[in-house]
Amino acid sequence: MREIRGEFGRSVRIERVSGDLGRVMDGPTVHELAEACDAGRIMFVRHLTVEIASFEELPPDYELAELVLGELTEYPKALAVQAWTDNAGTGGSSYHRIEQALGERGVTVTRSGQELVVSCFVGRRATLLGLNRLEDSLSDWPGGRMRLARADERVSRSEFKLEEAIATFGLLLPAGGKAVDLGASPGGWTRILRQHGKEVWSVDPGSLDPRLRADRRIHHEATTAGRFFAANRTRFDVVVNDMRMDQVLSARMMVDAAAHLRCGGLAIVTLKGGGKNPLDGARRGLDVLRQEYDVLHARQLHHNRNEITVVARKL
Ligand SMILES: C[S@@+](CC[C@H](N)C(=O)[O-])C[C@H]1O[C@@H](n2cnc3c(N)ncnc32)[C@H](O)[C@@H]1O
Repeated sequence: MREIRGEFGRSVRIERVSGDLGRVMDGPTVHELAEACDAGRIMFVRHLTVEIASFEELPPDYELAELVLGELTEYPKALAVQAWTDNAGTGGSSYHRIEQALGERGVTVTRSGQELVVSCFVGRRATLLGLNRLEDSLSDWPGGRMRLARADERVSRSEFKLEEAIATFGLLLPAGGKAVDLGASPGGWTRILRQHGKEVWSVDPGSLDPRLRADRRIHHEATTAGRFFAANRTRFDVVVNDMRMDQVLSARMMVDAAAHLRCGGLAIVTLKGGGKNPLDGARRGLDVLRQEYDVLHARQLHHNRNEITVVARKL
C-alpha cells in the first residue's frame, strides 16, 4: 500500500480483501500499475486484474459467461481462466465452472498462454471475478502463485526462485559463458545455470550436493564471496547471489562483484530480510546496487519468502 501511494499519490484508496489481496480504487489504471511494477518501482505486488464483479458465491453458469463476455467488444476465441482461494485450495472447482460456462458459448479455455485472463478469487467473505490483459497481469499464474514441479533431480527448494525469476521476467540466458553463483550451497541455482549451458563458479563455504560433484564445469570455491573476489582473475558473464545476508551487505558484495563482470553482464540477486520493514530494507539494498547496475526488475516473487528478487545489468 505504501508503494502504490508513494507512486500514485495519497488519494489512492486501497482496501484489504483477504490476506494478500487488495482492492485499489480512485487511482492508476491497471496499465499504469503494471508499468510501475514491471520497472521495479513497485516491488510487493505479484499479480493484477481488473475487477468486473463480486458476489457471495459464483452465480449460475449463464450469468457467469454473460458477465465476462459483456466486458469484451470482440467475441474471444480463447481465454485463460485462473482461479485461486485464500487458503491452500487451488480454486479447481471455480475453474471448472467458468470453463464450462465459457465453453458452452464456444470459447476455448486454457489455464495460461492467452492474451486475456479471467481471474476468479474465492475468499471466505467474497468471490471476485476479474478480467485483464496478460500484458498487464504481471504473471500468467492464478494470483501470481506459480507452481513448479517437484522433481527428484532438484537439489534445493531455492531452485524455484531462480526458475520463477527467469520465467516471470522472460530472462534470456544465452547458452555458454561463465557464471559465478554466490551463496551456492547446496547447488540449486548452480544446477539451473548449468542447464543454461554456463560454466559455473559456485562460491560457498558450505558443500555442494554430491550429484553435482562429477560435473567438471562446476568449480566449487569453498570460501566466502569476499575472499573469492580478493583472489579471482576470471571475468564473468553472469553473477547470481542468493547469500543469506543482510540486504545492504549483500548489495555491497554485488558492487564488488561488478569489477569481475563484463559490461552489460546480467545479475540476479535475492535481497533478504528487512524484518518488520521489508520495503525500506529492499530500497536501501537497491540504492547500493544502483552504484554499479541498472536495475531492470525487482519483485517479491511467489517463491521468495522474506526477500525480493532483483534483476540488473552491469553499467
Ligand atoms: C539460501 S542458501 C543458498 C541456496 C542456493 N541458492 C541453492 O539453490 O541451493 C544461502 C547460502 O548463503 C551462504 N552464504 C552466507 N554468507 C556467505 C558468504 N559471505 N559467502 C558465500 N556464501 C555465503 C550460506 O552458506 C548458504 O549456503
